[in-house]
Amino acid sequence: MPNKDSVIVILAAGKGTRLKSSFAKVLHDAGGRSLIDSVVRACLPLGAKKIVAIVGHQAEQVAAAVEPLGVQSVLQQPQNGTGHAVLVAKRVIGNAKTIVVLPGDAPLVRKETLKALIAAHRSGNAAATILSAVVSDPSGYGRILRKSENSVAAIVEDSQLTADQREINEINSSIYCFSAAKLWPALAQVKPENKHREIYLTDAIAVLASKGETVLAQVAPDAREVLGCNTRADLADVDRIFRDRKREELMNAGVTIQLPETVLLGPDVSAGEDSLLEPCVQLLGKTKIGARCMIRTGSVLNNAILGDGVMVEPHTVIAGSRLDDNVIIGPFARLRPGVHLKKGAKVGNFVEMKKSTIGDGSKVPHLSYIGDTKIGSHSNIGAGTITCNYDGVQKYPTTIGNRVFVGSDSVLVAPVKIGDGAYVAAGSAITENVPPNALALGRNRQTVKPGWAAKKRREQAAENRPKKSARRKSRPKKSRSRRKR
Ligand code: UD1
Ligand code: MG
Repeated sequence: MPNKDSVIVILAAGKGTRLKSSFAKVLHDAGGRSLIDSVVRACLPLGAKKIVAIVGHQAEQVAAAVEPLGVQSVLQQPQNGTGHAVLVAKRVIGNAKTIVVLPGDAPLVRKETLKALIAAHRSGNAAATILSAVVSDPSGYGRILRKSENSVAAIVEDSQLTADQREINEINSSIYCFSAAKLWPALAQVKPENKHREIYLTDAIAVLASKGETVLAQVAPDAREVLGCNTRADLADVDRIFRDRKREELMNAGVTIQLPETVLLGPDVSAGEDSLLEPCVQLLGKTKIGARCMIRTGSVLNNAILGDGVMVEPHTVIAGSRLDDNVIIGPFARLRPGVHLKKGAKVGNFVEMKKSTIGDGSKVPHLSYIGDTKIGSHSNIGAGTITCNYDGVQKYPTTIGNRVFVGSDSVLVAPVKIGDGAYVAAGSAITENVPPNALALGRNRQTVKPGWAAKKRREQAAENRPKKSARRKSRPKKSRSRRKR
């Protein structure tokens, strides 16, 4: 491992006042991950001895978010600035030779950029190397004050800029590489001389430069990588860039995306060659799409696993479910977690399912609720069929065999089993098991009364006809005044 003498320190104790939020800034999401999660993931491939997160606001939650990634947390209480944050980690950093510092709120940085920064720091034999960026709108960021083309004199915070310095468009990303032996004495000299009375890490740069130490600034190849998230607008910008990157990744893998800017993809999503995503599709969580699938407009898939050649018609919502090759689903279908649609199965419009398995080639084409159910292969479930899986206290299973035909508008009251090859008559309420190859009729036999309706209408008409006496009474009286004339 090349960086075993290095410790990475991620600054994540700040509140993020400008976000106006009750959650710590670094726990906010962009691109489908928390800010700090993305930062840690960029650092992991560097192979450092340790990754340390400085936590303060919502310390427990932030520590819990990074712990699964092998990150150790150090509490900074109170938060007296970015320099103070590094100081509180001194003991944990121990005798590391190199300290890489990153802010927890700039999640777009790539591992390649970090590797290049460390390499430049080493080859330049520097006390500090800053990752800088040249941007069109530098407002809000600290500016890099260069001594010469190759060396830095200071970083000046936005609030402390002179009118001339305001023109500088090379900004501090807050990502640095320090030689530990040089950083500690420099930080010890930094005074909290700013309006927030904080110890700024940026001030250590001027201290090092004034001592004649080598301070370098390496310009990031893509300025967007250093975008920090201080406001909701920053979060939206960063989110947009992550989503762009992910769509590009899928397109490079052979996926067609129509109107890509309308398609939202989570970071862990994958899709196979020649699959097509129509506009306004969302693929979230660990959704995995096979080859030659079509996900039509308005569909939202979260943790869905699709085989090859699956057709998802418009406005279908799928969560935590598995669809094998050549399944057809939707439009307007909803799969809640735990559904498995086997090869060639068909689920049609306005069908809701949960915790159910639908066998090869079976069809539930219209207006059904199927819950806690197992359906064999090549069965047909008629329109409007409902599995009554819940008695208000407990859930019960329904088992339907192979080549079963359930007539429309049937209710199957669980627990119940319908054997292979059985028929259920339309409109049945099935409360008992149906043996294989049987016909179950769970409804009253129809009675027909010839002429009943015509007779009824005649009676109604007679009833509504005004009575003779009533007719007389209601006849309008002739106007006397008129007669007089
Ligand atoms: C900081 C830099 C600025 C740079 C910008 C890049 C300083 C003084 N300024 O400004 O030069 O252009 O980042 O995005 O460093 N934090 C702590 N403890 C603290 C204070 C902050 O852990 O006591 C953490 C925050 O949680 C955050 C990071 O440090 O993740 C940076 O702090 P922030 O307040 O965002 O600094 P900026 O104003 O963005
Ligand atoms: Mg910031």
